[in-house]
Amino acid sequence: NIGKSTNILWHNCPVGQSDRQKLLGQKGCVVWITGLSGSGKSTLACALSRELHCRGHLTYVLDGDNLRHGLNRDLSFKAEDRAENIRRVGEVAKLFADAGIICIASLISPYRRDRDACRALLPDSKFIEVFMDLPLKICEARDPKGLYKLARTGKIKGFTGIDDPYEPPVNGEIVIKMKDGECPSPKAMAKQVLCYLEENG
Ligand code: PPS
Repeated sequence: NIGKSTNILWHNCPVGQSDRQKLLGQKGCVVWITGLSGSGKSTLACALSRELHCRGHLTYVLDGDNLRHGLNRDLSFKAEDRAENIRRVGEVAKLFADAGIICIASLISPYRRDRDACRALLPDSKFIEVFMDLPLKICEARDPKGLYKLARTGKIKGFTGIDDPYEPPVNGEIVIKMKDGECPSPKAMAKQVLCYLEENG
């Protein structure tokens, strides 16, 4: 049994999620932003966090890139490590939602199965999947960190969208798209998500 958690019991605390939600005057949930590198995930996460904060809501952003500096520093970009990355962040996001916080997770999370496993950790209304549906061409032209260039010249292997797959959501709650050939502004993207959150309580 060494190496696995066995003989463990769940302890309940008298202060529960509904008590914390009452205290905060909001409902905890997870807004999960998925999409290619350079599609604007972190930009949307920050804009949404600011808009909600200004309206008096407690939020917390879990950013894939940032978490790989600490919690997930031991993980590579191989499929099984990406799965473990998403599993860990899903569990952490669940704890934030349980704390009553609006948790905004922003990760490429390229595999549908991994995202669906995170969704399954929460009641349906508490997991809101946002797909950054921007063409690879646009993300690559932006190339904010110069990583696409490195991937195209073979200096990075297994880069999502180039030589590693991205599986778009099929039944996600929100899709961020280009409109009339223009990318939506950070404010417009945040507004789209805000409207959804308001309309869905
Ligand atoms: S994943 O796929 O969800 O585990 O990735 P994530 O934890 O969100 O980390 C994505 C950031 O890592 C950088 N990076 C790579 N991305 C994709 N593929 C490869 N091979 C890779 N190597 C490094 C990149 O800066 C990603 O940041 P974003 O913000 O998405 O551009």
